[in-house]
Amino acid sequence: MKLINYKWRQLILSLSCLLLIIGCTNLYPTSNQDIKLLKVATDPTFIPFEIQTASGKLEGFDIDLMNALAKVVGFAIQFESLPFDGMISTLEAKRVDAAISGITITAERLKTIAFSRPYFKAGLAIAVRENNHNIKNFNTLQGKKIAVQIGSTGADFAKTIPNAKISTFNSGPEFFQDLLNGNVDAVVSDAFATLYAIKNGKLKGIKVVADLLTQEYYGIATPKDSPHLKKINKAIASMLSNGTYKQIYQKWFNAEPPQLPES
Ligand code: ARG
Repeated sequence: MKLINYKWRQLILSLSCLLLIIGCTNLYPTSNQDIKLLKVATDPTFIPFEIQTASGKLEGFDIDLMNALAKVVGFAIQFESLPFDGMISTLEAKRVDAAISGITITAERLKTIAFSRPYFKAGLAIAVRENNHNIKNFNTLQGKKIAVQIGSTGADFAKTIPNAKISTFNSGPEFFQDLLNGNVDAVVSDAFATLYAIKNGKLKGIKVVADLLTQEYYGIATPKDSPHLKKINKAIASMLSNGTYKQIYQKWFNAEPPQLPES
């Protein structure tokens, strides 16, 4: 009897030690060894979502959001600058863990990569020179010279405009220069980014046609079977409900954020 008692006591003791150890590690999930270093691609030519200052520092709505998200989840972030056009294939090849770059969630992209829940409501718009009064909508774009960013939803959209002559560019600022030079009649690109640049004096002599061509949502992109996507989605949900999202939105857009769908 005494012997059994002794064995039981030993078992209980070792079990409690084990529980104590598990408990302690869970209390401090962000102790140094547990921090996961997440490689995140971005194309910092997309004001005000991702931009690089003269000193090389990354700034913008997406950068703030990703850094805040990292704090919630306990990730350390290492940003990697990549041209927008190479982003999807880099994710497919799993050379990065995620990408944040004003990337629109599309059915086509969902075939090869995964996206978080939507974190930004966006849409495409037509930009023209201030003195242009005849391009007003999709129909009046027909047969016109149009500039777009390679690999963007704007580039896909431009392909659907009958008889349009399309020039493609690697980064945002370049195609606006072409519009200003008179080489093209219009740019088809993300409305928010263009409006922001105009409002902040970064783009002069250009206006955005009022009606949006599309409604789109940006998502954080990951490889298809990413082990981090669940945590990323949870963190977005908590930032939406605890005011962090609203704070970042107001910092960059000086406005109330719109409602976002869950998927
Ligand atoms: N939203 C557009 C797309 O997904 C363009 C995004 C461009 N982003 C950038 N960082 N250059 O195709």
